[in-house]
Amino acid sequence: MKTIHFEIIDSTNTYLKRNYKDLDNFTFVSADFQSAGRGRNNRNWKSEKGENLLFSLLIKDESLIKEFKSLSIISALSVIEAIDLPELSIKWPNDVYYKDNKLAGILLEGVSTDKIECLIIGIGINVNQKEFIGDYKREPTSLCKILNKDINIETLKEKVYKQIESNFKLVKNNYDFYKKIVKLDYLKNKEVYAEINNELRNIKVLGINKDYSLKVKKDNDILNLQSGEITFHV
Ligand code: BTN
Repeated sequence: MKTIHFEIIDSTNTYLKRNYKDLDNFTFVSADFQSAGRGRNNRNWKSEKGENLLFSLLIKDESLIKEFKSLSIISALSVIEAIDLPELSIKWPNDVYYKDNKLAGILLEGVSTDKIECLIIGIGINVNQKEFIGDYKREPTSLCKILNKDINIETLKEKVYKQIESNFKLVKNNYDFYKKIVKLDYLKNKEVYAEINNELRNIKVLGINKDYSLKVKKDNDILNLQSGEITFHV
């Protein structure tokens, strides 16, 4: 395992995007602080210095790259398995929730030329941050808020890394994670307000499908959505 740690970097995902050509498969880059941390849907990912676990993993292995549709949700599962607390769930496509609050987020990016050269899986886990100031619909949570004590970030980092490594080996052996993932489906059977094709609607989530798309009921239609096709407003 090749690990790189920065006290300060713009973003661990961006660092890997710039440098993937010179780095090995499974290089793990973490940082105490990101000056331009990025989240999904072009959002910023803000995190207090040294309080949280911020890292990205470089995937160059072609047998994993071809599984790109499942890797982000399997990364969320790995985070849950590493943390190992009750009441953790996956809010599709890949947020980790504790009860009704977000604990961790995942940003999977691909770098392509004429083919996908590599995948970059960026994970931010809220660990010791107690206050989250920003425009949140619901304030995120952290392990420290859940457990009422500070957590050792290095120990957690090792656990998460090992869990991802072991699950990704299983992916290469065609292991089926679906049964584990459906049990953790936060949105299943919830009525939510969401944007589909620029339209804001109330929909009912029926659950995560075998191919990790999301089955929803919109009026009388059943739709199977990929992650880019829906934005939740909850
Ligand atoms: C999201 O929920 O919107 C995804 C957040 C992903 C944040 C992590 S922190 C480490 C890595 N570097 C980034 O700039 N983003 C990801």
